[in-house]
Amino acid sequence: NETIEQTIERLGAVVPDYPKPGVVFRDLTPVFAGGEAFRAVVDSLLAEYKGRFDYVAGIEARGFLLAAAAAYAAGKGVLTVRKPGKLPRDTYSESYSMEYSENTLEVHQDDFPAGSRILILDDVLATGGTLGATARLIEQAGGIVAGFGVVLELRDLGGRTALHDYPVHALAAY
Ligand code: PRP
Ligand code: HPA
Repeated sequence: NETIEQTIERLGAVVPDYPKPGVVFRDLTPVFAGGEAFRAVVDSLLAEYKGRFDYVAGIEARGFLLAAAAAYAAGKGVLTVRKPGKLPRDTYSESYSMEYSENTLEVHQDDFPAGSRILILDDVLATGGTLGATARLIEQAGGIVAGFGVVLELRDLGGRTALHDYPVHALAAY
């Protein structure tokens, strides 16, 4: 009887020098592909925030998988935080840098009512650039960040400190 952290460690793949030399990439696709593991991951993320959110936001691309499953299981709406140019109506936009690239993310200005509590899910917390930008977007759109949930936190990159006082729940950390 493994813990969720042990399951993530057993199934996660370590890929040196991807996508650039010097980066050690943690690949969670085998966790997502393991049927029971995927369900356990989604259930664990939801359990932490039970009753404390109105919507689940997923960050393109891997966060979409988690957010859709979690929103469905909780009977809540799912929101998409997207790469630039993908959302057709008026958006807010935030740019940030991360370990191996520069990025921009966008949300629609009116996908949820002001004051809604938003649970933000993604696969990995590394530098925190992605989750930090997402929190700014949700707040610009009038939302309240209920917290962040990630499958894996890469501690060496210091992401948690970049996220100030927001609740961060990581199922596993290296
Ligand atoms: C990865 C990962 C997180 C982010 C974490 O996404 O899925 O979203 O990086 O890094 P950070 O904490 O340093 O911001 P990526 O931008 O590679 O996009 P993808 O999901 O579309 O592959
Ligand atoms: N794995 C997955 N996503 C990531 C990583 C990683 O090692 N670093 C930054 N985003």
